[in-house]
Amino acid sequence: MKKVFAEDILRDKVAFVTGGGTGITGGVARAFAEHGAKLAIVSRKEESLIPMKQLVEENGRECLAVTADVRDFVEVENAVQRTVEHYGRIDIVVNGAAGNFLCAAERLSANGFGTVVDIDTKGTFNVCRAAFEELKKSGGQILNISATLHYLATPMQIHVSAAKAGVDAITRNLSAEWGRQGIRVNGIAPGPIEDTEGMKRLLPEGLKEKITRKIPLQRFGRIADIENAALFLASDAASYVNGVTLVVDGGQWLMGTSLA
Ligand code: HXC
Repeated sequence: MKKVFAEDILRDKVAFVTGGGTGITGGVARAFAEHGAKLAIVSRKEESLIPMKQLVEENGRECLAVTADVRDFVEVENAVQRTVEHYGRIDIVVNGAAGNFLCAAERLSANGFGTVVDIDTKGTFNVCRAAFEELKKSGGQILNISATLHYLATPMQIHVSAAKAGVDAITRNLSAEWGRQGIRVNGIAPGPIEDTEGMKRLLPEGLKEKITRKIPLQRFGRIADIENAALFLASDAASYVNGVTLVVDGGQWLMGTSLA
């Protein structure tokens, strides 16, 4: 996809990106680096981070790989501290770390439900909370990666729907509380995005064509579509945008097209 933003819109901004090694948030991290940002990418597993670190560095940008489980506040605090020791600041936080699997509500264990809520919702809070002082200093911002699953109802996804509804609540509440401190807080709700591990696992076999016909824009999204939305929200072009979760789904959720 052709680049639509000037390549220096995030020059020297430090972006702390959870889940930034792979998938949609990996694309966002890479796009931020291509537009001038210095990266700290965070994941539970180092092997999820190394290929992205190498790619970013090959392209002449800086990338710190930090292992931390977003469910563990102390690990998150340490990851924030390492980033600040390395770069001296944090300007942008992207909460992209997420858990997901398909499971009917009557078969889902309490721990299965809680695990996804812990990763997505509590993890998002933990990272925002741990980065608050740095974001206050830098006049920074937060971008929470959400979903559209909870706008209507999505069978087999009660855990993720509840978790992402919580993420959206965090976006709104923090935008109100921290906007006063100069921190913008927004979200992005991707629709069906092709070529992601999540979609490969979550999309039932043979349904892609049927779903495509029901998407007003008649195609699945691409990771680049989410990258561009994130670049806009992270840039000065969005300096008066606060408390919004931007839906990037080709109009899919309005049609009530369940993915599961
Ligand atoms: C039912 C499952 C399950 C499954 C795990 N559990 N996988 N239950 N079906 N397929 C249950 C386990 O039985 C256990 O409960 C509990 O969840 C914790 O599982 P663990 O494996 O011990 O936890 P952990 O190692 O922490 O792993 C958590 C995980 C994670 C959530 C399963 O491995 C994961 O999500 N990996 C995928 C990451 C991913 O694809 N992220 C992209 C998300 S895309 P019990 O009771 O047995 O102890 C996304 C987009 C949403 O979010 C929008 C899509 C349209």
